[in-house]
Amino acid sequence: MVFPMSKVRKAVIPAAGLGTRFLPATKTVPKEMLPIIDRPILMYIVEEAVRAGIEDIVLVAGRGKHAIEDFFDVSYELEDKLARDGKDAWLESLRKIRDAANIISIRQMRPLGLGHAIGCAKPIIGNEPFAVLLGDEIMIADKDKPTVTGQLARSFEQSGMSTVAVMEVPASETHKYGIVEGETTAMPDGGTRIRVGNVIEKPTAGQSSSRWALPGRYVFDASIFGHIASTKPGKNGEIQLTDAMVAVAKEKGLLAQTFTSRRFDAGDKLGYLQANIELALEHPELGTALRQYLQTLGKTL
Ligand code: UTP
Repeated sequence: MVFPMSKVRKAVIPAAGLGTRFLPATKTVPKEMLPIIDRPILMYIVEEAVRAGIEDIVLVAGRGKHAIEDFFDVSYELEDKLARDGKDAWLESLRKIRDAANIISIRQMRPLGLGHAIGCAKPIIGNEPFAVLLGDEIMIADKDKPTVTGQLARSFEQSGMSTVAVMEVPASETHKYGIVEGETTAMPDGGTRIRVGNVIEKPTAGQSSSRWALPGRYVFDASIFGHIASTKPGKNGEIQLTDAMVAVAKEKGLLAQTFTSRRFDAGDKLGYLQANIELALEHPELGTALRQYLQTLGKTL
């Protein structure tokens, strides 16, 4: 089947994992709905997608699906009260969430892995290229810089090849990520591009020849769905996205490239706290007070 080179208009946000690292909070609240300051993690991710020109967003949810759906739905009683009380700024912030993009919510019946979660979106994505943004990874681009998803979409649109984001990690951390191996070239903007030869799921130090880790941003053409469908359960009995990526690399070629955004692993307790602190320090109403508090605290540590 031939997939024409085209603009990336759709995105999938998998948010159906069990979030065991955040238990007991995630027993009832999906980890993607935990707040960073006053907005759920998911909101930051939807904003990145919208900034990259994505129009349709498929949210793959599991338990707690209603909390995710309700967040992007009209809350009539609340909005009516805010309007009557003249709380226009709050009203506007709720409307902005709703109007940001077309949000389509689907359910992954069982958490059978990231590859499986993405495969659930096939009926909505169809034959179009699409971005994937992991629901627990926050990427903050400077105002004058493109988002990670924007960078990957541009690579796809220019090369016609699926492109994924990578970052270099210390050897002691490769076991936390999918690791990409391949031939590297320097990009004109100072970044690195890799022609992917292999992808290894969470190798221990020394089990891979590189330290290029996948932090959870991808652009694929629709051929990945066929590879996901024929992927057998791998590590932990899950259908791994990395296995389908190896098949894409072999069949049509796969690019990996570095990015310019700041990244927070909000699915990890320390990463979550770091995101809250760093972003609160930049918050117009909280920054000064928090900085003073941290300075006081610093003297006692
Ligand atoms: P993670 O492996 O980080 O999520 O998946 P998890 O399994 O929920 O986390 P822990 O380790 O138990 O704390 C990365 C992203 O993929 C989604 C998750 O929701 C998360 O946003 N995911 C993972 C799915 O949607 N379905 C799955 O079957 C697995």
